[in-house]
Amino acid sequence: MRRAIAEAEVGDAVLGDDPTAAALERYAAELLGKEAALFFPSGIMANTAALLVLGRPGTEAVIEAGGHILNYEEGAGAAWGGIQLRAVHTPDGLLRPDDVADAIRPPSPYLPQTSLVCLENTHNGAGGRVMPLPQLKAVVAAARERGVAVHLDGARLPNASVASGVPMAEYAAPVDTVMVAVSKGLGAPVGSLLAGSAEAMQRAWRIRRRLGGGMRQAGMLAAAALYGLRNHLPLLEHDHRRARDLASRAARIEGLSVAVPETNIVMIELADPRLQAAEMLGALERSGVRMVQFGARRLRAVTHLDVDDAGIARAGDALEQAVRELLP
Ligand SMILES: Cc1ncc(COP(=O)(O)O)c(C=O)c1O
Repeated sequence: MRRAIAEAEVGDAVLGDDPTAAALERYAAELLGKEAALFFPSGIMANTAALLVLGRPGTEAVIEAGGHILNYEEGAGAAWGGIQLRAVHTPDGLLRPDDVADAIRPPSPYLPQTSLVCLENTHNGAGGRVMPLPQLKAVVAAARERGVAVHLDGARLPNASVASGVPMAEYAAPVDTVMVAVSKGLGAPVGSLLAGSAEAMQRAWRIRRRLGGGMRQAGMLAAAALYGLRNHLPLLEHDHRRARDLASRAARIEGLSVAVPETNIVMIELADPRLQAAEMLGALERSGVRMVQFGARRLRAVTHLDVDDAGIARAGDALEQAVRELLP
């Protein structure tokens, strides 16, 4: 990837003549089965552009309550687009058609109207859960029946695809816009792609520029993204296997409780009330292992390209050591 970056042919992507950025956008559109795609500096900017393309000021976007767009994107849809997010609580992070049907406002002069539904696959907050394709199709159908557009935050759609064996384009086919990150499991330094119809991407192009996301010699970053998309997709399976390995090591430690991960995110519950998240993180850090707090009594560990089998063993040992220190 470093070599691809160094050797990338560049131009000025804002003027439309950076050949590597153009190649990436064509490749991503094809991979996602959409007419066009755009390279963004971040997933948040790409999600925000989708909200601004599909939504209207003063309307609502329906989203699962643990969704990234709702919880971790600085209220971008509200700040830049006057779009209000309507949270729907689910037991597992996965919206169902009835949830969407109930949350979409009926036509009424007294209620805000719904412009779009936001889906997330895999669902980060739900521990990398995959929304199965039939469920995704049924949810989109419930939105469409009510004239409502759908955006898919597929920051980790490559993981959903590898875990389920369903090509990314099949997940993307029913939705209006889809975002895929190259800076997560695919290992590129920067960027996300937003794909959709040519008309939607024309509008997204202006929004990207307005948000300051028009990048000039973008080819160097695009080369990394292309390299990740072309070469690293099959490697995600190893991240998933390593996540299951870490989960089973953690599950054997008394005081912790862990669900079997579907993809590369391991959620570790501090089941023993004497275990405190901040103290656990401190103890792990002293062993050179980093996790993040995700909720009052939950830690999140993510496997990726730079974590090998030995790293997983070290993380398992560090968890054991941390619990031993804190539960004398
Ligand atoms: C599901 C999801 N969507 C969007 C993003 C935002 O991506 P970025 O950090 O590139 O802005 C993230 C980042 O963690 C994410 O997990």
